[in-house]
Amino acid sequence: MAAEIVVVTGATGFVGSYVVKELLETTSYAVRAVVRDAQNADKTQFLRDLVPEGDDGRLSFWSADLTSDGSFDAAVMGSHYVVHTAATVSLTARHPQRDIVDVNVNGVRNVLRACQQATRAGTFRRMVMTASVSTIEDLALPAGHVFTEADFNNSATVQNDPYPYSKRMSEQAAMDFVQALSSEDKFEVVFVNPGAIYGPHLAAHHLNGSSAIIRDLMTGKVPMCPQLAFGYVDVRDVAKVHVALLTQGTAGASSHWSSSTLLTCMSNPMPQSAICWWRAFLLAIPFSGENIERLDVKSGVPAQSCLNKQGWQALHPTVITHYDQLTHDLQPLFDSSKIRQLLGFEFTAKEKTLKDSMDALIAHGEVESPAEANS
Ligand SMILES: NC(=O)c1ccc[n+]([C@@H]2O[C@H](COP(=O)([O-])OP(=O)(O)OC[C@H]3O[C@@H](n4cnc5c(N)ncnc54)[C@H](OP(=O)(O)O)[C@@H]3O)[C@@H](O)[C@H]2O)c1
Repeated sequence: MAAEIVVVTGATGFVGSYVVKELLETTSYAVRAVVRDAQNADKTQFLRDLVPEGDDGRLSFWSADLTSDGSFDAAVMGSHYVVHTAATVSLTARHPQRDIVDVNVNGVRNVLRACQQATRAGTFRRMVMTASVSTIEDLALPAGHVFTEADFNNSATVQNDPYPYSKRMSEQAAMDFVQALSSEDKFEVVFVNPGAIYGPHLAAHHLNGSSAIIRDLMTGKVPMCPQLAFGYVDVRDVAKVHVALLTQGTAGASSHWSSSTLLTCMSNPMPQSAICWWRAFLLAIPFSGENIERLDVKSGVPAQSCLNKQGWQALHPTVITHYDQLTHDLQPLFDSSKIRQLLGFEFTAKEKTLKDSMDALIAHGEVESPAEANS
């Protein structure tokens, strides 16, 4: 019998590539990797290298663009599942409505229309979509609020926070789309809402996100501990959950929006300040001796060792749009119990996430190894 087919959009991305890896390593599905340009070997070779020996033919490449209507139709036709990770992941843009919101919202509609056609053709079952905690985490809520799938970020607008707004509107667009489907066109949509995603990068072009922050801490470009708290999660956990939710979970369980969707809040619960996480990380770095000494205090991190708003913005200007809400005094709290219970799943320990991220940066030659740095 022919293998069932999973389509992964955004397959070149940080999350998408781990979803492809997880599918190839732990399932027997055939995988269609959707990328902007299937001929671009620079962007796709690292994915070809993930194919287990003797499994040639399980991974195929398809070209599609979120901004082009009908672009995903061919890739999705005849498939059984879609993991939709593709999005513009950009916090700012000159034209935020056009370049962030429209791309992400129209993009998801494009993919959903392709799923509808595949449903009519008799194969399609479920789309798992990478959403974000930024669609849940309403920073206007009082400190101490514990975020769950029941929350919705109502304060983000295209003016004040275009990326979270685009993610929220993408979810809403997907909700509206499936709700309007006739019974013969019905398929399921499941949302995964990860916090900030960390973990070892697989390709050099992934160095535009969390890996770049870790690299800059390791090299000393950012010589202090970011005074920030936010929900985070390991990229490998994110991939595992996307793949598990292709078939597991009863769609409809406890979603407040629609009877055909399941929301999954995925962020490490944060009973202690995230700043301790950063501190543990900095102390683990074996070759920034000078900085470590300054940070190595027994109880907490001294204020002077924390990078303040101006310093952080200077180093990572696009990262911090909500610094004031994210300082360690106002740590956001997430309850991720639903997904852990549903899948019998535990999050990767933060020390492992960080250690593996650092090892990857060294292995890829982005940061000198301690031995080389000390010689
Ligand atoms: N990273 C995080 O901390 C985080 C946290 C929560 C949620 N998420 C969500 O996770 C998903 C994946 O993010 P990521 O971190 O993996 O980002 P990423 O590495 O930038 O990957 C984004 C992917 O989307 C593709 N893409 C962008 N614009 C496209 C377009 N117009 N048409 C087709 N494909 C397009 C990119 O293709 P190219 O390679 O061609 O650019 C890339 O494959 C996104 O939906 C994001 O909102 C991310």
